[in-house]
Amino acid sequence: MIAFTLNGRPASVDVDPDKPLLWVLREDLNVVGPKFGCGVAACGACTVHVDGQAVRSCSLPASAVAGKTVVTIEGLPKADGTLHAVQRAWIENQVPQCGYCQPGFIMATAALLAANPRPTDREVDEALSNLCRCGTYGSIRRAIQRAIALLQAAP
Ligand code: FES
Ligand code: FES
Repeated sequence: MIAFTLNGRPASVDVDPDKPLLWVLREDLNVVGPKFGCGVAACGACTVHVDGQAVRSCSLPASAVAGKTVVTIEGLPKADGTLHAVQRAWIENQVPQCGYCQPGFIMATAALLAANPRPTDREVDEALSNLCRCGTYGSIRRAIQRAIALLQAAP
């Protein structure tokens, strides 16, 4: 049995410890915000937070999150339902096209800004190596700047 905290609540699963966290979330816990893109930690569609760090859940064995705190896009809003500043910035900038990659970008951005509220363009590039087949990169850059401003105004 692997027990951890998922989006603020206790979760436990009886699975192969090597099963990737992405598939534990999607198949065993019905948490489908994290998406499968490449399966080899290359695209970022499966990004979640583990103890506050952005990780690519397709390449992380479930055993690695035992006793830890996992947050997916479903757990990013506040308890009262208020969207995270990164989510609000994304909506304001109408970033998504097909949307498939977007939970991963949002989770990667949220982790970056929590650790570094004023990242340089280079730091953004280093933190967000996610891929978007719809080419929303320009909108994402604008949304990140807006999220930075929103967080400065109301952290
Ligand atoms: S599905 Fe995990 S990085 Fe692409
Ligand atoms: S919005 Fe379609 S893959 Fe990124």
